[in-house]
Amino acid sequence: MIRPFLLSGDVLRVLDQRLLPREERWLEVTDCDGCAGVIDTMAVRGAPAIGCVAARGVAFAARDLAARGLQDADARDRLRAAGARLVATRPTAVNLPWAVERLLAVADATPVEQWAARLAAEADAVAAEDLEACLAIGRHGLDALPPGRLTVLTHCNAGALATAGYGTALGIVRALHDAGRLARVFADDTRPRQQGARLTAWELHREGLPVTLVADTVAGLLLRRGAVDAVVTGADRVAANGDSANKIGTYQLAVLCAHHGVPFYIAAPTSTVDLACPTGDAIVIEERDPDEVRRVDDVWVAPADVDAYNPAFDVTPASLITAIVTERGVARPSYRETLAALMRPPRGNRD
Ligand code: MRU
Repeated sequence: MIRPFLLSGDVLRVLDQRLLPREERWLEVTDCDGCAGVIDTMAVRGAPAIGCVAARGVAFAARDLAARGLQDADARDRLRAAGARLVATRPTAVNLPWAVERLLAVADATPVEQWAARLAAEADAVAAEDLEACLAIGRHGLDALPPGRLTVLTHCNAGALATAGYGTALGIVRALHDAGRLARVFADDTRPRQQGARLTAWELHREGLPVTLVADTVAGLLLRRGAVDAVVTGADRVAANGDSANKIGTYQLAVLCAHHGVPFYIAAPTSTVDLACPTGDAIVIEERDPDEVRRVDDVWVAPADVDAYNPAFDVTPASLITAIVTERGVARPSYRETLAALMRPPRGNRD
């Protein structure tokens, strides 16, 4: 199975996604700063994957602080600061603060001398649960999508590379393929960073799935021709009302789907659902270096000094989303109620 990171002893090995598909180079990360660095530079990306790496970052920081024999309060303050450093790397994906807060809550309940083992185990659990969630999203997707053999279209990379493995949107694609129900998947190239071309096309092609790469601008033609049965994307943050932030270009796809009567699905683990965020208007959209638009790798495709604007995500309103497929089941409109019900802890775990 393709994995974006692997733990080997005390070293987190991270596949450098900036170099794919040309080169498979693994970076070695051994501390919290290293984890923040690989998220910051997008060597690792995708909401669940950056949550997993951030969790490991807190575990590394806890191990290193515990080894210094600091005063209890000092160690705890410094661990919170390490968490804040990780959260500051990328603002839109809620999986990042979700994972950091989860690790910090465990640290709060644990004596500093036990931090190293306890927080490492919690970071392991974050990654293991994410992989399980992706497998479950794939299974639920089989029922959520229209029946029969399907051609789907996806945007960006919500695949094995964006998660602890298997993927969310691509988890559904993989499950369809395994069930003999995938006719074809169209992968948008996803300008400006081309996660669709570099990553989605790479991981699906490598596994022998029927993938066809298209420029982002081709989606309208495909939908108008009736060549796509469903569009499935991931999400970086799902608000309480179902509005969903995902890679820039997702919103226009959902509008096209509504126009052509094609169902549009979000696939995301519940760690991407942010009930504290009332609507999509409250989601912070990351703005990135305009050079990503002016250039493709080292090649300038526009005048170097032309004005350029580079928002990394957009918000698809809930009204355009047919269903949100999570590991706990499928939410359908009205999302305020269905998401709240999915997020409620199972009876036995309630206070
Ligand atoms: O900027 P990126 O590459 O981190 O953006 C990734 C996406 O938008 C994904 O679709 C999203 O994180 C879901 S990944 C399962």
